[in-house]
Amino acid sequence: MIPLSVPQLAGNEWKYVKDCLDTGWISSAGSYVSQFEQLVADYAGVKYGVACMNGTVGLHIAQILSGVTSEDHVIAPNITFIATLNAIKYTGASPILIDVDPQNWQMDLELLESFLQENVVFKEVEGKIYSFNKETNKRIKAIMPVHVLGNIGDMEQLQEIATSYHIDIIEDSTEALGSLYKGKHAGSFGKFGVFSFNGNKIISTGGGGVIVTNDEALAQKAKHLTTQAKVSTMEYLHDEVGYNYRLVNVLAAIGVAQMEQFPILLENKKRMDSYYRSELSGIGDIEFQMVLPCVEANCWLFTFKTKYMRLLLDYLNLNDIQSRPFWVPMNQLEMFEDDIYVTKSNNSLEIYNTSISIPSSAGITKAEMARVVQTIKTFYSRIYITKK
Ligand SMILES: Cc1ncc(COP(=O)(O)O)c(C=O)c1O
Repeated sequence: MIPLSVPQLAGNEWKYVKDCLDTGWISSAGSYVSQFEQLVADYAGVKYGVACMNGTVGLHIAQILSGVTSEDHVIAPNITFIATLNAIKYTGASPILIDVDPQNWQMDLELLESFLQENVVFKEVEGKIYSFNKETNKRIKAIMPVHVLGNIGDMEQLQEIATSYHIDIIEDSTEALGSLYKGKHAGSFGKFGVFSFNGNKIISTGGGGVIVTNDEALAQKAKHLTTQAKVSTMEYLHDEVGYNYRLVNVLAAIGVAQMEQFPILLENKKRMDSYYRSELSGIGDIEFQMVLPCVEANCWLFTFKTKYMRLLLDYLNLNDIQSRPFWVPMNQLEMFEDDIYVTKSNNSLEIYNTSISIPSSAGITKAEMARVVQTIKTFYSRIYITKK
């Protein structure tokens, strides 16, 4: 089986984990945690990094620290992995789902802007201006762009919209470590960015995340909240309800080793992407995800559209090529059925109905990619012959 996306553990992972085991530093204290935080923050061009258990909890903490409450709305794209929406629901806030652009599959910013123009009224609360949804009378506190598949939408446009409507940006950059928009890293555009290091990401700690921010006070608060809000090193004194969301040293040790290899893994992903694009271009009815010219994506998971998606999915999996459909759009999941979904032509559904992800591990070999491509070509030659 050629797997969809598996970690590449070819560096110092064993050595650093052994170091944790040999020294007994396997748990929440230990030098690998701070090293990993710094490596990720430095890489993303952001001042501070706070390690946490996974990306989902990172998104939860980022919202709490942006002041999101159960009285608020948080805006998110309708196409994302469920964790984005779960993290919003943990705060009690109500999501506003925005349909995605049919070309690059990121949040549709024209649609977002027209929704805000028509539905927002500004109100002053404790000396600050906020956007309120006229219909629900809830404040729109944050917007969570998701860099879907490591691609990035127009961040300057998003920043302009967010600034005009006094909405905080929390980037769900979980899939986008290494992706650039006009030379600036994913994760560095908002109040917070959050990265994930679960098993299928470009680098992995098994499970893990890092919250990044340029604000020192917020970084300190994030550390505080993710570590049970303890105020004294000696006394068991806590000043608020905190969370045990910390990343343990043994996983951070894997993270440090993975970060050392990150430039190579990123290069491999890019090579994989350009190979697939050149070999699959013009095959059957395949359509690729559009990437803006000012974006350099990390090419996390190769996904394309075809109206034969279901047939191709079965065909590839039967041929031991692990492939997956795209995420079911959030508005179709029963937990979010009653939430606001802003759309004109439901591009999310069309993308879901037609998109398929194919093997994209950073360690995929040329021979494996050639087999994937050949199998897809054979599939289409049969489909088109059958059609005639
Ligand atoms: C878009 C998106 N958001 C959030 C997450 C959550 O990250 P984690 O699995 O580390 O909790 C993921 C990854 O799984 C993701 O792909």
